[in-house]
Amino acid sequence: MTQIDVHLTPDYSARALREDVRAGLTADPKWLPPKWFYDARGSELFEQITRLPEYYPTRAEREILRTRAGDIAAITKAHTLVELGSGSSEKTRLLLDGLRDHGTLTTFVPLDVSESALREAADAITADYPGLEVHGVVGDFTAHLDKLPGEAPRVVAFLGGTIGNLLPAERAAFYASVREVLEPGEWFLLGTDLVKDPATLVAAYDDSAGVTAEFNRNVLRVINRQLGADFDVDAFSHVAIWDPDNEWIEMHLRADRAMRVLIPEIHLDVEFAEGEELSTEISAKFHRHGVEAELTKAAFTPTTWWTDTKARFALSLWQAT
Ligand code: SAH
Ligand code: TRP
Repeated sequence: MTQIDVHLTPDYSARALREDVRAGLTADPKWLPPKWFYDARGSELFEQITRLPEYYPTRAEREILRTRAGDIAAITKAHTLVELGSGSSEKTRLLLDGLRDHGTLTTFVPLDVSESALREAADAITADYPGLEVHGVVGDFTAHLDKLPGEAPRVVAFLGGTIGNLLPAERAAFYASVREVLEPGEWFLLGTDLVKDPATLVAAYDDSAGVTAEFNRNVLRVINRQLGADFDVDAFSHVAIWDPDNEWIEMHLRADRAMRVLIPEIHLDVEFAEGEELSTEISAKFHRHGVEAELTKAAFTPTTWWTDTKARFALSLWQAT
């Protein structure tokens, strides 16, 4: 059985996009929040990123899930698996298999801002897991966690290193909000990409086929379509740099020439100087001690910390204190 709750109505999204675009493009330096990358095309481009030779996080996390899904099932005995920012839920099947084989799983709750990706994933999983109740939520994981269905004990999974796309203050607020919806004894499963040599990191966010560049530019296409803007999308270059102080990759779009962009739906007129950079996304990388400090502060107890054999990526399991 499949049910989809839509908390992000077209109206709500349109209003949020307008507010974000106005705030970000009138700021100095200019910025845009990352959740707007993921329209149908953006979600498809992200799926292509996960298959790029340079983009190791998906393969590393899949390796850990493959070897540890049984342990996760045995430790948590979860009845409900919630997945935040679920996308295609492709790797998640390994967890579903582990929990199903253990005999405790009844419900899967994927949550994503991308309605197209969510519906596609929910349909595919419903077809392949007979008897599993799939209850999808179209929502924002920074705003709609209080609306999560499913019976305890639940595991809330947040995979793909998406936690790294939040700024440190947003990350702290996010951990607190996850903790708030859980009862003591329930579980949080977190995928974090780890600090490593900068060349490997930069290549993962600036691939030779240019897929990541297309993905980054897609946010401009979304604004053109939704707000009637006239961004000359191809006049922006993709930039990915490693910031060693913050230990994060920073993604920008650099204006190749001076230009003026009209955004009629919000009555905004934006000037770009030649070479001006618009920041679109960070992807923070982690150390075990940092993750432990932040989650302990948010009232989670550490349970396990697993990495892939090359120690590129970590999957860790936390119990609500
Ligand atoms: N979990 C998948 C996808 C990661 S990409 C994996 O590991 O491969 C990040 C996903 O989070 C996308 O599907 C995107 O649509 C979603 N997303 C981004 N910001 C979000 C937000 N604020 N609320 C809910 N989903 C969000
Ligand atoms: N969560 C992914 C990550 O940080 C998202 C991502 C991968 C991404 N490549 C990107 C976001 C390029 C923006 C641009 O690895």
